[in-house]
Amino acid sequence: AKIHAHEFVVEATPVKRLCKTHNAITVNGQFPGPTLEINNGDTLVVKVTNKARYNVTIHWHGVRQMRTGWADGPEFVTQCPIRPGGSYTYRFTVQGQEGTLWWHAHSSWLRATVYGALIIRPREGELYPFPKPNHDTPILLGERWDANPIDVVRQATRTGGAPNVSDAYTINGQPGDLYKCSNKDTTVVPIHAGETNLLRVINAALNQPLFFTVANHKLTVVGADASYLKPFTTKVLMLGPGQTTDVLLTADQAPSRYYIAARAYQSAQNAPFDNTTTTAILEYRSPHHGNHSQYHHSKGVKNKRRPIMPPLPAYNDTNTVTAFSRSFRSPRKVEVPTEIDQSLFFAVGLGLNKCPKNFKPNRCQGPNGTRFTASMNNVSFVLPNNVSILQAQYLGIPGVFTTDFPGKPPVKFDYTGNVSRSLWQPIPGTKAHKLKFGSRVEIVLQDTSIVTPENHPIHLHGYDFYIVAEGFGNFDPKKDRAKFNLVDPPLRNTVAVPVNGWAVIRFVADNPGAWLMHCHLDVHIGWGLATVLLVENGVGKLQSIEPPPVDLPLC
Ligand code: C2O
Repeated sequence: AKIHAHEFVVEATPVKRLCKTHNAITVNGQFPGPTLEINNGDTLVVKVTNKARYNVTIHWHGVRQMRTGWADGPEFVTQCPIRPGGSYTYRFTVQGQEGTLWWHAHSSWLRATVYGALIIRPREGELYPFPKPNHDTPILLGERWDANPIDVVRQATRTGGAPNVSDAYTINGQPGDLYKCSNKDTTVVPIHAGETNLLRVINAALNQPLFFTVANHKLTVVGADASYLKPFTTKVLMLGPGQTTDVLLTADQAPSRYYIAARAYQSAQNAPFDNTTTTAILEYRSPHHGNHSQYHHSKGVKNKRRPIMPPLPAYNDTNTVTAFSRSFRSPRKVEVPTEIDQSLFFAVGLGLNKCPKNFKPNRCQGPNGTRFTASMNNVSFVLPNNVSILQAQYLGIPGVFTTDFPGKPPVKFDYTGNVSRSLWQPIPGTKAHKLKFGSRVEIVLQDTSIVTPENHPIHLHGYDFYIVAEGFGNFDPKKDRAKFNLVDPPLRNTVAVPVNGWAVIRFVADNPGAWLMHCHLDVHIGWGLATVLLVENGVGKLQSIEPPPVDLPLC
């Protein structure tokens, strides 16, 4: 196994998109940020230096961080932020995970521009569980605002309203041909007839689940969230923010140019639906067409034929999403916990807080003079600001969090529309849930559909979990337990909880530390749709978190 050392300098860089240039926070001046390529079993050592004027941290989305929770990255959960002028070295080993993960800032809305791919190939000398592709290409789906994303979210927090939706979706940082001032820089993925490309699709958008497709080509899904899947073919993918999907694409069509396209599944936070589509180009090349780079931008292709556009599902096409997610299977029988030590029920959704007394009306611009909020089980999670939760757990500092989440068994609500008013007004708190090392855990995630039904991408840090079932309406323990897949369910780190529905996940708490669990729509995490799972140390060194690194940023 190798050790890969990298330097990340976080800095303001002028970036031009949609006819406008403004300073974006980038890593090493690159947007999207550098792609990290490793083999299973390798160690990453990434020194992050903050030359921007914002606090920053970097999260390695999906990396299990076994006993190295100090390198996980969410600010005020596993570390205090790296202040302007400061630096911190993240050091961790990737073990037993293969496929595609990614890294992103975990501080305010900085991840709008601070993100990149993390490619994990099989151990050296080992093979993929499918024929070796001729190429592999990261496809990062993102969102672009005409304004500074930090200002967008700050403005929303001040007013209590919903933040502005983005001005474009992007593929590898580029909006593509259908947006103004963009077609010269559209991302091009070259391919030769007969070759196979492993597309590593990552939804790095802040607030938008996205459909993804390629004109005229079948996609063979072989993995997601750095776990392999039993291969299946599909025309369309749906990825919630945070999720990754690896697909094989074979150049078996007439040599031509084909659009790779993504657009919204559902609209974020009740905003008017935005039907813009981001595109890249799959371009067939003749065998002797010079250098074959991974991907590049299409400078100087003015005279080429217009690419073929694929059909995309409608923004409310939940049937396509359901058919897709229900195709996911692990390649073989897996070890899902069949007996459970703890079964938890987390109701996830939005809420509207009454305008607090003494608040100016211009700070309550949610529906009917309220402020938007979100919660798990009626609690809006609040980050501490003077110490991280992991430090408080490790050093036994009192008063930073309470461990009464989720409290007494939640009252049974009818989430199909007739919801108690009390759930519309979540209570703020820094409430965590404690788990014994090795306990077998089940969590039912139920969309409350309060304010608006949504597909919530729920991400758990430090873990992969099996998704044993999903469905619509209220989760019914008696009826729905019978449908659990305890044979070959998929292993993921982010589950797209069906709109107006529920999903059930299971895992063994084998990684001690403080692990954030949250909706990966950034607008929802800001409103409090989060909690922390505190996993205690087990017996001996191998079941305990390592001591903190000496350069861990303090508050
Ligand atoms: Cu991808 Cu808490 O993050």
